[in-house]
Amino acid sequence: MDLINNAITVQLPAYLSALKVPTSLDQAAGLDFNDWLNMLPVVVAGSIVLLAPVLAAVKMGGGSSKKKAMVNPTIEKSKAKVVHMCTFSEIEDTAKDGKAAYCRCWRSGSFPLCDGSHTAHNKATGDNVGPLVINCKK
Ligand code: FES
Repeated sequence: MDLINNAITVQLPAYLSALKVPTSLDQAAGLDFNDWLNMLPVVVAGSIVLLAPVLAAVKMGGGSSKKKAMVNPTIEKSKAKVVHMCTFSEIEDTAKDGKAAYCRCWRSGSFPLCDGSHTAHNKATGDNVGPLVINCKK
């Protein structure tokens, strides 16, 4: 503990007060190589503090992770938008035991109807998606 305490209360302030931080371009031009080298740890630490939130944001949802955010991996990918329209009577026609199940996981082999593929998807990914079940019984 004494080592850490000494580093924070003695060594760090001494290091920072010894830095030649330029306040103008003229002062910056007058610094030698060792002056710049002494500032390197501060510049690196500051860059990490400033860039860490940006890098975390890019990793979570931006940049090249666009493909990871896709919901639909395979269905009608040549279309700009996948849309299905149906009538109430068509829903009733697809119903089994009075219920029609429509896929919401985008993994069904009989999309837009649910074929149970969500079970394998959930097991493989830890997701929890399931179908929209329409009760057609009156
Ligand atoms: S197969 Fe997609 S919700 Fe069942």
